[in-house]
Amino acid sequence: MPYFLGIDVGTTGSKAVLVDEQGRVVSSHTTEYPLYTPKVGWTEQLPDEWWTATVSSIKAVLEKSRVKPDEIQGVGLTGQMHGLVMLDRERKVIRPAILWNDQRTGEETQFINEKIGLERILTLTGNVAHTGFTAPKLLWVKKHEPHNFGKMWKFMLPKDYVGFKLTGEVKTDVNDASGTSLFNVEQRSWSSEIVEELGIPHEALPDVLESPEVRGEVTSEASTETGLPKGTIVVAGAGDQGAAGVGAGVVEEGVVSVNIGTSGVVFTHSSVYRYDPKGRLHAFCHAVPGSWHLMGVMLSAGGSLRWFRDRLGQLEKGLADLLGVDPYELLCKEAEHVPPGSEGLIFLPYLTGERTPHADPYSRGVFFGLSLKHGRQHMVRAILEGVCYGLRDSLELILALGVKPKEVRVLGGGARSQLWRQILSDVYGIDVYTMEVDEGSSFGAAILASVGVGAYSSVERAVEAMVRKREHVKYSVENNAVYTRYYRLYKDLYPALKEKFRELAQIV
Ligand code: XUL
Repeated sequence: MPYFLGIDVGTTGSKAVLVDEQGRVVSSHTTEYPLYTPKVGWTEQLPDEWWTATVSSIKAVLEKSRVKPDEIQGVGLTGQMHGLVMLDRERKVIRPAILWNDQRTGEETQFINEKIGLERILTLTGNVAHTGFTAPKLLWVKKHEPHNFGKMWKFMLPKDYVGFKLTGEVKTDVNDASGTSLFNVEQRSWSSEIVEELGIPHEALPDVLESPEVRGEVTSEASTETGLPKGTIVVAGAGDQGAAGVGAGVVEEGVVSVNIGTSGVVFTHSSVYRYDPKGRLHAFCHAVPGSWHLMGVMLSAGGSLRWFRDRLGQLEKGLADLLGVDPYELLCKEAEHVPPGSEGLIFLPYLTGERTPHADPYSRGVFFGLSLKHGRQHMVRAILEGVCYGLRDSLELILALGVKPKEVRVLGGGARSQLWRQILSDVYGIDVYTMEVDEGSSFGAAILASVGVGAYSSVERAVEAMVRKREHVKYSVENNAVYTRYYRLYKDLYPALKEKFRELAQIV
């Protein structure tokens, strides 16, 4: 029986998932690694710790599943995007990897957006440069560590280092390359114009493949370490969001996925190249050859509910421990008794600033409309609703670009709450589905591997065979009308408070 292995080099750990031809997950394992913060706002990891963790996860899934290694036909890679890994000519890592959530590059990001100009950078790369993207990191190293920059032979993205250790090849894929600010997303190739203007040596750019294309074969050295047979095919893969999109079956226009994890991601397929003229959405090459995807990212989705649980939910936490249930379940149960709209309470979920649509690090959380009749259960419901209003902001930007959503698929921890799924469906005014497999990006990477080895003729065919919906949530026309009135008010609150958030930041 053929199996496919998906590997996700995430921020907290490396996850390996073994999947069969029908998309059934036979085994999965995550090995964690540390995240280093040498200074406030800096985040780094050691590429070799990614590799050792990946080796452990591969061995663990092989052992748990009892699948014979030679039944694994292909390996697909995915991982945290935007991170900078630098190799010297001896193929050694030059410095710790700088991660997607590192904040040291404010100046470099501003420099890029100003030097290239907002309109040109949008036309050339589909995106404005963000602090987390790769090009600002390269400029930071060039300025602050010129000796390291001088030693650079190649740079690559996090999962590509694991790809290098597996195959000896230095390659990346169009989806992950889209998050570097150096990539012409429309033409699906490096933008020589930007690369030159920023003074990045051309030779340092890795070759770029479409996501299901073969990047190489497992070397004998990697085979000894992992237990995978020498010669096993490894496909290019995709960034974590692109691969998650494949895993959720978002491979045709009109299908949208919403992932409610710590952050919230609204992701849609686009069969033509389009981008938001103000750069509020990410526009990346999709892992499906010849297509693109649009994406809005809110920073505190599940994170907002977690904040409530940890800071104000001691009662539910204690009770949940006693009853042996999940505290989130108890919180959501209480919120069920509150009517849609939380009787006039609106929550702005900007606890850690916001990416889409405001790109504002200064914005903060707000409960608006608090009165004597409101209790804890109102606050919880307002959080669930506020997060969905934020997710609607991204959906509205997608709608404005002419994509017509017909179906939404909800994933992540938030998808486990029946109430949250219903609120999302009602706020959107679109039916929502949960998925049979919710293993995140690694599942999508395994699907890409199945295409790369020729088990399926295209990503679309593989998705047809391997991805299945589970539950159907119908939206209520009545609730949608209520939520739309609240949503309009929600939308007016940020512009009214924008300057006040800045003043607050100065005082704090
Ligand atoms: C995508 C993004 C995150 C990281 C880490 O733009 O910033 O998804 O890839 O998960």
